[in-house]
Amino acid sequence: MAEHVLVTGGAGFIGSFLVDALVERGHRVRILDSLEEQVHGGARPDYLNPHAEFIEGSVLDPAAVARAMDGVDVVFHQAAIVGVGQSMYEIRRYCEGNTLGAATVLEALMERRDRVRKVVVASSMSIYGEGAYIGAEGRMEAPRLRPRDALRRGEWEPTDEGGRPLEPMPTPEHKPLQPTSVYAVTKRDHEELFLSVGHAYGIPTVALRYFNVYGARQALSNPYTGVGAIFSSRYLNGRPPVIFEDGAQTRDFVHVSDIVQANLRAMEGDGADHQAVNVGTGRATSVARLAGLIARELGMEEIEPEITGEFREGDIRHCYADIGKARNLLGYEPRVALEAGVAQLVEWVRTQRAEDRFDAARAELSEKGLA
Ligand code: UD1
Repeated sequence: MAEHVLVTGGAGFIGSFLVDALVERGHRVRILDSLEEQVHGGARPDYLNPHAEFIEGSVLDPAAVARAMDGVDVVFHQAAIVGVGQSMYEIRRYCEGNTLGAATVLEALMERRDRVRKVVVASSMSIYGEGAYIGAEGRMEAPRLRPRDALRRGEWEPTDEGGRPLEPMPTPEHKPLQPTSVYAVTKRDHEELFLSVGHAYGIPTVALRYFNVYGARQALSNPYTGVGAIFSSRYLNGRPPVIFEDGAQTRDFVHVSDIVQANLRAMEGDGADHQAVNVGTGRATSVARLAGLIARELGMEEIEPEITGEFREGDIRHCYADIGKARNLLGYEPRVALEAGVAQLVEWVRTQRAEDRFDAARAELSEKGLA
């Protein structure tokens, strides 16, 4: 059945693919997006789906949000300011844009609780802090961030309180949350605000904890974007990517189409209502391997990544998803293997002219003591 769907942040990387999928399924789709300067330079991206209604406006503007939500059955809240490093000095901007933005959307939702039948909010693996590990006793451990002096000595792997080694394991949703950046705190706010308000008013709400999402349309010239986009734009500019730590840190790189899949399943089924669910692949990949895959696809293996031993403040070492809950509650199964996803990413990157702003971002982080 065709429904009327709102996607906030529908001009963004993930939101725009979600819009395409919804349009393709015959839904009537509306986008609310502010065309954030840092991502879009204030202009509509050329990939914007012409069959979706577009409202340019901020989630901070109650009037724009009310207009956007008029007559809507389903809401996907994808709008957010994304930039972990930047969030550590533009603290007000992140708290305002993300937390107050969520609050503004929720007040509008509350007034339409009889009409809206489903809400899906974008949460983030960043709220975990370090991923889950198995300790010496064979139990799950949730280590704190690695101490700075250990990092200065190049001791990259987290240990337990007694200094004993830990083995990474898939991170389940019940791992205690330890957001380590302002961005992550605001994402936890998103999740908790949406789930609590959804519960209180009986609006079925699902929070999807996205792992490290990659794919076409991820802003290449935004230096605060994901590592896949950053590395691609470095190679494209004929420069080596800069790998922090030693490159053996791992993440769960999930293709944007699998994120879209999870969103559609959350909309169509009710198994995950009122819950937070991981969306990843369940596989850990090192940052060095990701660089290698991108280089191979671009045919630029002669460009050796620069491994500097520098580290970013607040970075975690390992985190990959336990996707058991997504499988059981949503029937989700990741479809895109990393090799195929990287090939697609690279194909798109080749068509882009990415300004390489990595050096500027690095300088800014180190000036502020964050790298
Ligand atoms: C963070 C957030 C995540 C968000 C993502 C993109 C956390 C734990 N997670 O993920 O929610 O979706 O940012 O905004 O806060 N790296 C390099 N060289 C670079 C860039 C990154 O080596 O030029 C390394 C980082 O040190 C890190 C890994 O690559 O070890 C991944 O970095 P990034 O893509 O920024 O994502 P996260 O920090 O995992």
